[in-house]
Amino acid sequence: MIQSFSKTLFLANLAGVGLICCFVSFFLYFEPESTLCPSTSGHGKANEEPLPEKPIVLLWFWPLGVRFDLNSCLPHYNIDSCILTDDRSLYSQAEGVVFFHKDISWGLENLPQEPRPSFQRWIWYNVESPTNTAKKPGLENLFNLTLSYRRDADITVRNEVTIKKTETKEEFVLPKKDKLVCWIVSNNNPATGTASREKYYRELSQHIKIDVFGVAFTGHQLEYEDYYPTLASCKFYLSLENSLHKDYFVEKVNGPLVAGAVPVVLGPPRENYEQFLPRGSFIHVNDFPDAKGLAEFLQGLDKDHDAYMSYFEWRKHYEVIPHLLTIYNEFIQPVCLACDHISKYKEYHVINDLYGWYFS
Ligand SMILES: *[C@@H]1O[C@H](CO)[C@@H](O)[C@H](O)[C@H]1NC(C)=O
Repeated sequence: MIQSFSKTLFLANLAGVGLICCFVSFFLYFEPESTLCPSTSGHGKANEEPLPEKPIVLLWFWPLGVRFDLNSCLPHYNIDSCILTDDRSLYSQAEGVVFFHKDISWGLENLPQEPRPSFQRWIWYNVESPTNTAKKPGLENLFNLTLSYRRDADITVRNEVTIKKTETKEEFVLPKKDKLVCWIVSNNNPATGTASREKYYRELSQHIKIDVFGVAFTGHQLEYEDYYPTLASCKFYLSLENSLHKDYFVEKVNGPLVAGAVPVVLGPPRENYEQFLPRGSFIHVNDFPDAKGLAEFLQGLDKDHDAYMSYFEWRKHYEVIPHLLTIYNEFIQPVCLACDHISKYKEYHVINDLYGWYFS
């Protein structure tokens, strides 16, 4: 492998190709004579060993009808190990088929009606919490893999803080702050379980000034390009989940960590957050007897620069990756991870009690 790697590198340089896309494909599908990006067909020359085929992963539904570029996995996540398609005529050849839970009809009529090939694995894709997941009957024993925010899913999709690979000497520079506490909220539909976070917000707002953005309270949506700059301009950011479940916190915490604000979290217990985030990177509402206690603590930190800056110490050892923002992008990462998983792992696997697991 090492040898073919350096040879590939050499050839790529020699040919003056130098393109990342070529390099990655070269590495996986070495074709000595070719100076162009190898085609994805992966067929070798007559006298060579056959080259490995990339598995086909079929996206059965466009999630919520949202289309995106199926060639996004390489530029965004450096994943190029499968052929992603929405072409249902490739069903019988697909090694993985991804089903977005919300799009499955109650009677399951819109699932494939043809028999499932023995090598094919069905992937249940759901990133909603149990509170917002409909128990459609008939799915309990149908899937082979789960794709969810949960740590114990087969394919876990979340934005995680990762340990820095290289220690950088660069000091963290705090962005300019002109607001104390901020909250961006686009959904306040009580049916999705938002009532308790709203109650907390209302209580907190009686003791400290909170700048609120987003369609739910202000009537207009924050532009995507304003998202990170807005977060950066706040000292604290309210990362309040709509429902409380193990492992359930998604991009609401990642945003402030990326932007350089301190997240104030309401969600599962602190210990659960600490499985994903450094201890000193966030403030948990449960650390205080009530909203007033939290407000006083935040006001204290506002006056004590050193104490406030201690919430950024973790940056010396960890890094965060900005999540993709637009609705067109939000489904890309999970689908790319499914692609990656299908190409790496071939095990036979069945989910016997989907809801028993998910709602436990
Ligand atoms: C996938 O799951 C189904 C339903 O449980 C099962 O019949 C099938 O054998 C499984 N296939 C693989 C490749 O794991």
